[in-house]
Amino acid sequence: MKGVLLAGGTGSRLDPLTRITNKHLLPVYDRPMISYAVEALVKAGIDEIMVVTGGTHAGEFLRLLSNGEEYGVRRLTYAYQDRPGGIAEALGLAERFVGTERVLVMLADNVFGRTIRPTVERFGQQASGARIVLARVPEPEHLRHLGVPELDEKGRVVRIVEKPAVPPSQFCVTGVYCYEPSVFAVIPTLIPSSRGELEITDVNNHYVAAGEMSYDVCDGFWGDAGESIDAYYNVVDEVRRNGANLG
Ligand code: G1P
Repeated sequence: MKGVLLAGGTGSRLDPLTRITNKHLLPVYDRPMISYAVEALVKAGIDEIMVVTGGTHAGEFLRLLSNGEEYGVRRLTYAYQDRPGGIAEALGLAERFVGTERVLVMLADNVFGRTIRPTVERFGQQASGARIVLARVPEPEHLRHLGVPELDEKGRVVRIVEKPAVPPSQFCVTGVYCYEPSVFAVIPTLIPSSRGELEITDVNNHYVAAGEMSYDVCDGFWGDAGESIDAYYNVVDEVRRNGANLG
């Protein structure tokens, strides 16, 4: 299975910090943010990784990660997104890198307390389709900034709503997504959302509608360090106190 780390975007929610660097290079305790995502993939057994970035600081990723050896990455490649077209568009840039394999996609501003290895292993046993990781988020005002699944009485995902005014459950969809290679046929069918982006939620809803979406619920800390300045500091405090990607 290949890994794709998405590290583009303008980081506008962390402005002005992101005027002078890429959000994913900001410090989280003692390391730049993206290091935790690289570690998450390597600890999950994924050692062929593409980093997709954009904007004005792309060269810094090469300086930080180099060829990946120091991080345990066997093959590290890069792609450049030349306009902020959304998460799904960024994933589309990895099509040739992924080829006919399965792929784990991770938003590089997401930080997990525990290793995501069990999700990778379960996806390996899954016949087809996609797999996501949910996190329990009790506060509705927090859920309104995220993708939220609606679940039926058997706990199956009925649909995912992006940034819902009225969240349909107490879970969010985190930034870890596992797909079979058919995902690259889904991306060209997407229509840009009201924010002008190709949404990963629309990709996921394709697999929900096809009855091919499975999920795990994250059992430790989860945070999106790019969501707001408070969310960023919450992630920094958590990592400093308890670490990340523990196995
Ligand atoms: C993205 C996804 C959203 C998901 C979140 C997790 O939001 O669109 O569904 O819950 O990442 O970090 P964005 O950060 O693009 O607002």
